Amino acid sequence: MTDRQPPDPADAPLRVDLLRAGLRGVALGNPLIYLPAVDSTNTYAAALARNGASEGALVTTDHQTAGRGRAGRVWKPLPNQQLILSFVLRPTFPPHFLVMASALAVAGAIEATTPLQAEIKWPNDVLIGGRKVCGVLIETSDGVAILGMGLNANGSLAGDAELAARATTLAAATGHPIAREELAIALIRRLDTLYGELRDGGAEAQRDLRERWRARLVTLGRQTTIRQSAHAQPQDAPPIEAIEGLAVDVNSDGALLLRRDDGQLVTITWGDVE
Ligand code: BTN
Repeated sequence: MTDRQPPDPADAPLRVDLLRAGLRGVALGNPLIYLPAVDSTNTYAAALARNGASEGALVTTDHQTAGRGRAGRVWKPLPNQQLILSFVLRPTFPPHFLVMASALAVAGAIEATTPLQAEIKWPNDVLIGGRKVCGVLIETSDGVAILGMGLNANGSLAGDAELAARATTLAAATGHPIAREELAIALIRRLDTLYGELRDGGAEAQRDLRERWRARLVTLGRQTTIRQSAHAQPQDAPPIEAIEGLAVDVNSDGALLLRRDDGQLVTITWGDVE
């Protein structure tokens, strides 16, 4: 007899063997590069891409020590608890469709593997009960897109009151541990399907995907503040920090259409919704 306990599945390293088995025959996630720890999977994947990595290559880790969020923010690590994924892609369609596909894949995977209902906040944050569980960072350069996703599966953010007010984990929302491998397989398979539709389906597939994404946006119909931090501002953008208005719709490119109090309709292509 031994008093050693089996490892807590919610705190164990990712079972890469299960992941590979579940992704057999799937283009995205092949090859799959697992690193126990890395600064940022997006940075690592970008270096691989520069060295000719094939489309679909996936970098994943159990501990991201310098994870990057949008607008120069830090992505908080929860070692052995999150899904940290960065794909090397060479999309033949405009990258904003990746924004939509990634959010739809994450929301669908959460709903297929948990009893939770996921929401999409423009452009691609995935929320549970109004709190963020997944963020996406897409970085494009020279025809390559690095699609990075951070999904809070297990663990808790309760130790960080400021973060816990606006973010959560799937385990906290369901009350039980999440099998990260099952979630990852569901997510990557969905993303692979949507990516294939976009690649092969032309304008009709793009319209269809945009409609599915639009139908899930919780942002529409709400009074909204958009913050555009100076750090993330494109060089040619005017120095605007916050824009308020009613989020009335999205256009064909996925930009948010905001009706300001003075009646003016403004098109928002980037920024954070509050
Ligand atoms: C955001 O909501 O601000 C985007 C967060 C994106 C985090 C992911 S984790 C995997 C990939 N590697 C990174 O350094 N960032 C992205």
